Amino acid sequence: MKNLNLWIVSISTIIISLTSCAPKPTKIVPPEFKAGQNQFHRVCANCHGADALGKNTKAPGLIDPEYLPENFSNDEIYKQVIEGSDKMPSQRNKISDSEITEIIKYLRYSQKEADLAIEEDEPDESDE
Ligand code: HEC
Repeated sequence: MKNLNLWIVSISTIIISLTSCAPKPTKIVPPEFKAGQNQFHRVCANCHGADALGKNTKAPGLIDPEYLPENFSNDEIYKQVIEGSDKMPSQRNKISDSEITEIIKYLRYSQKEADLAIEEDEPDESDE
């Protein structure tokens, strides 16, 4: 009887963890980026993946040279979230302006940590 209870508890735990689908962050960030990390995983990670890496997700990873500030500005991120696109529904109803600002801060921090290289000619190797 005891074993059966245990079995039921573990099965329910597994089912619950499978159905609560929002991916969890895997990285520890400094306190000032924690709010953005939480908001990102609440609203965006279902599509953009844990830590915004977009592995096996329907939406692109945002920790990518394509989305560095030089290529994709904060305003453009804001606009994408508010207006959406053909493939991305607007998130206007799920998130406030200040939460978007926190998310952008968190994304910029994560991009920096990932040390992404912008593709251009290598500037420092000119001794030929
Ligand atoms: C329901 C799924 C979904 C959610 C939720 C979602 N996105 Fe997206 N997002 C997408 C898809 C799909 C694309 C690719 C859109 C395209 O190619 O037009 C995308 C594209 C983007 C892009 C790149 C746009 C471009 O032009 O390359 C950014 C930036 C972005 N999303 C940010 C966010 C942020 C920040 C959030 C959370 C506030 C979020 N998304 C929530 C599905 C989603």
